Amino acid sequence: MSNFPSQNKRKIRVGTNHVLAAAFVLVIAFVSSFLRLLTLSSIHDGSSSAAAENTNSAIGAPGIQQLDTSAISTKSKRPNSFHFVISSDCTSYQRWEVLVQLHSAQSIRQCGRYTWIVSGCLEEGDGAEAGKGKGGAHSDKLTPSLLLEEVGRHFPVTLSNHTVAKEAIGAKDDNDCHTIHPHLHFTPDFTNMSVYGGPFADGTRKRTFKGRNGKIQQGNYGNTYPFNNKPNGLNHWAQHFLRNDERRDESIVLIDPDFLFLNKFELDEIVLPGKPAAAKYGLGWSGIPCPFISVTNKDVNNFYSAGPPYVIHIEDVLKFSKRWSDLVPPTFDEYPLLYAEMFAYSMAAADLGLKHKLVKNIFSGCMTGWPHTHEKEELNALKLSAKTYADLIENAPLGLEATGGGASSCFLSPLSPPPFLHYCARYSFVTPFSNSDGDNSNVYHWFAKRHVDHDILDCGEHPQPLQPFLSNQHERGEGGDKDWNVLAVCAIVRAINYAKRMGCEKDAMNH
Ligand SMILES: *[C@@H]1O[C@H](CO)[C@@H](O)[C@H](O)[C@H]1NC(C)=O
Ligand SMILES: *[C@@H]1O[C@H](CO)[C@@H](O)[C@H](O)[C@H]1NC(C)=O
Repeated sequence: MSNFPSQNKRKIRVGTNHVLAAAFVLVIAFVSSFLRLLTLSSIHDGSSSAAAENTNSAIGAPGIQQLDTSAISTKSKRPNSFHFVISSDCTSYQRWEVLVQLHSAQSIRQCGRYTWIVSGCLEEGDGAEAGKGKGGAHSDKLTPSLLLEEVGRHFPVTLSNHTVAKEAIGAKDDNDCHTIHPHLHFTPDFTNMSVYGGPFADGTRKRTFKGRNGKIQQGNYGNTYPFNNKPNGLNHWAQHFLRNDERRDESIVLIDPDFLFLNKFELDEIVLPGKPAAAKYGLGWSGIPCPFISVTNKDVNNFYSAGPPYVIHIEDVLKFSKRWSDLVPPTFDEYPLLYAEMFAYSMAAADLGLKHKLVKNIFSGCMTGWPHTHEKEELNALKLSAKTYADLIENAPLGLEATGGGASSCFLSPLSPPPFLHYCARYSFVTPFSNSDGDNSNVYHWFAKRHVDHDILDCGEHPQPLQPFLSNQHERGEGGDKDWNVLAVCAIVRAINYAKRMGCEKDAMNH
């Protein structure tokens, strides 16, 4: 903490003219507050630990049951109309992720509209990279038409540069929630942080961040920060959407490409203009001086310790995404690591007074603890679900059973998973499962998103269902819980196989 000035408690109001100066101070305060999360939870696909909710619950953050009801409208008890918005890059890697996500939504009949914001495609005609990828960061970049071609193989797709057609809104607010019609919206690339100027723009000075333990961390993004696409892509889409679409009753749900639907997403809260909601993250900021006169530590815990899914009323999206976009570059200069975009989100929300209704238990798998089951029946079902899949994988490693039913089929009744799995981490289990305490005969079965082949959904290249990856050596899992590690592997592997099957069956029908 010694690196943070302790005299932050000035009255600072971030006006549009003072973004840089104010954001500097804000960043310091916010970054300190997020440190706990960041130091405990390593980068995506790494060994992010169960850092967030559980470890910070001692701060006294309210659970959903205890939240004050002032933000809940008593007038309008109409359910939310959700409009899911996903921001991705234009690689074959995020393409399979989002397609798998859309299939998972369809498989559990999630109602709502879907918009997929794709940033930074190659120019048409410049398809040199296409088809040359591997997995993860080594995937190939695509042109809009290459992306669209593959999406169109799976779903009836519309481009958002057309006025949204009635017939394209199949999965709207009626009961027709079994066919997803994604809208694609293409935007420029926003990852070049040099365009925002500042002391690091020319690349000669490196951004660093001094952690609480005094250790200097270097960002590994240089001047290319992929997550700057999120706020800017959203803003780009919102400008376009508001001009072309008349609906003003929707709640925009922002999720990342590596989210899967395990269960229907619903909210008890009605999201209204000025009253967003989000998943509660453990971004505790106890004891840290707060630069906003209006934002106390308690307020941060209660309203701004937010992360995806973010749920924002459409009327708020334009101004919010603008503020969020403005705050990413100065945040990134101070904090050149993965979650700069998340800090910037919280700061923008605090600055605009958009108090979030923070909700627990809407996702699992990453940056949060595994769900806690207290009911004996559910606990039994958890154990049985895990054992069933582990035994299946052990005994029939090439069994087509692994394709059955999609992600939700991993959870035996009465076990009811949270709406989302966020598979940013690595998950593993060993077989034989019953005596899985690590003797050398054990086989490790694991999943990590970056190891998936970039064209995993291709029926010709990958005719067989995906199986969990195999290893004879120890593969770390996520956050200890053995049963939930099995179920995470099961859910994502089955979700991929479900998406493969749906796409390939459609292919076969069309030929
Ligand atoms: C919509 O975008 C596509 C690809 O980006 C383009 O080819 C098409 O001409 C656009 N259509 C309209 C109506 O602007
Ligand atoms: C990034 O932006 C800077 C400043 O506008 C420009 O000079 C540079 O060429 C850009 N880099 C890439 C890779 O486009």
